[in-house]
Amino acid sequence: MLAPIIGSEAVDVLKTMEKGFRGPGTAPQEDLATVLSRKIIGQPAATRVIIPYVQMFQAGLSPEGRPAGVFLLLGPTGTGKTRTVEALAEMLHGDEKMMVKVDCGEFQMEHEVAKLIGAPPGYLGHRETQPILTQTRLNSVTSEKCGLSIVLFDEIEKAAPSMTRLLLGVLDKAILRLGDNTSVSFERSLVFLTSNLGAREMQKEINPDFGFQAAAAGPRTDLEPKLQHIGLAAVRRRFSPEFVNRIDCVVTYQPLSQASLEAILDQRIEALQEHINTRLGPRRFYLEVPEQARQWLLRLGTSSEYGARELNRTLHRRLVQPLAALVAGGRIEPGARVRVELDAEGQDLRIGIAEPPAAAEPATPTVLVVDDTHEMVHFLERLLLRAGWRLLPAESARTAHNLISSQRPAAALLDYHLPDGTGVYLAVELRRAYPRLPVVIMAGLDLSPEDRQTCEKYDFTVLRKPFLAAEVLERIRPALVV
Ligand SMILES: Nc1ncnc2c1ncn2[C@@H]1O[C@H](COP(=O)(O)OP(=O)(O)O)[C@@H](O)[C@H]1O
Ligand SMILES: [Mg+2]
Repeated sequence: MLAPIIGSEAVDVLKTMEKGFRGPGTAPQEDLATVLSRKIIGQPAATRVIIPYVQMFQAGLSPEGRPAGVFLLLGPTGTGKTRTVEALAEMLHGDEKMMVKVDCGEFQMEHEVAKLIGAPPGYLGHRETQPILTQTRLNSVTSEKCGLSIVLFDEIEKAAPSMTRLLLGVLDKAILRLGDNTSVSFERSLVFLTSNLGAREMQKEINPDFGFQAAAAGPRTDLEPKLQHIGLAAVRRRFSPEFVNRIDCVVTYQPLSQASLEAILDQRIEALQEHINTRLGPRRFYLEVPEQARQWLLRLGTSSEYGARELNRTLHRRLVQPLAALVAGGRIEPGARVRVELDAEGQDLRIGIAEPPAAAEPATPTVLVVDDTHEMVHFLERLLLRAGWRLLPAESARTAHNLISSQRPAAALLDYHLPDGTGVYLAVELRRAYPRLPVVIMAGLDLSPEDRQTCEKYDFTVLRKPFLAAEVLERIRPALVV
């Protein structure tokens, strides 16, 4: 029998830890799960399953004579399997490349598999062939923060059969014997196997007519166990029972919903802005990618067949490369606002550059205030004026949109209840247009749990009514002081 998604052992340990035990010298354990689930969108099972094993290791409770965890990640292409392992490396060791990654597609022939362990002595040139999987290599991908090495065998269905035999020893006893008869211990390793075995059948189950509607369709609650079943059946057909029995957990990745794909794109654009900031430093500029352009990128870069796999390439070709050409040609001034819009034919992106305000006349910072209570708007106006700031008032989300198409606010103060929606919804839209815009939501006790979560996710400040003048100023001052 295959182990259940979370081994009961893991659950017990987790419970003990929830009672207050913390691994020595590590960040609070909740953080790991929160951070991973923020990085890997729409795949909660992955976080739920993997993190307890990291915690067991950190608590010194991993079993002896076995790897600290063995996971098989299944599911359709481009749903985040490989990315999960990279994200974990980034979290534990500060760099997504801090892992030993074996691309099984490069080991399709038996003699290629031999390269992993090196040739036995006596073979011609055995001294020159360094094995790939050495103890030194495993140790080199740990960090001061964490002594756990991450080992990824990516797309195992592509490897020659001898790879499975080689893996058996690793999964069972955490030992790999090299060609020169020395051994490598995987006791301090998390081993990940990824595979898209069964993905074609899963695709049929997700979308029998094979079109592109699947991603847009609402979530199907019956889908998860069905896909899991299809994946496991395919794994059992391909691998021997003894191999399958040595896997601790199987996670089946779900097809990404439209909302998840949107969130992934937002994440990639934020990462691009971060990259611009760190690489260009004081010469940085600010990207504005409105909704229409985002939807176009999504249509081009995602599909039910390849998930989000093409998204990075699409972004690179349609956004990063044209931007790089503009930067190289000295066409983007430091501090400029670079607006990425869809061209009139809807065929490509057009990059417009708005120059930064001239340094000689520093503009008065403006604060967008969206609230339909006049009393409140007047109160805020007096407050902001006194602080030397200007108020940009709007009574509804729609007016706010019109205003910000021509003026860029330094911060936004939004009432939670707007005549045409919630302040939180508007806030998310504003962030899309201006990724770094500080936003304060003014709410009573009626903020819904989902909206509260959204505020946390996007780092919107929530100001509870009633509040004092000083509190408002305190919240928005950091945004306005350069
Ligand atoms: N669930 C996800 N969360 C965040 N990013 C994702 C997710 N799924 C796919 N991506 C994006 O798509 C790219 C390809 O995903 P990948 O993990 O390589 O897919 P696969 O499931 O085929 O291994 C990733 O590098 C990442 O940018
Ligand atoms: Mg992959």
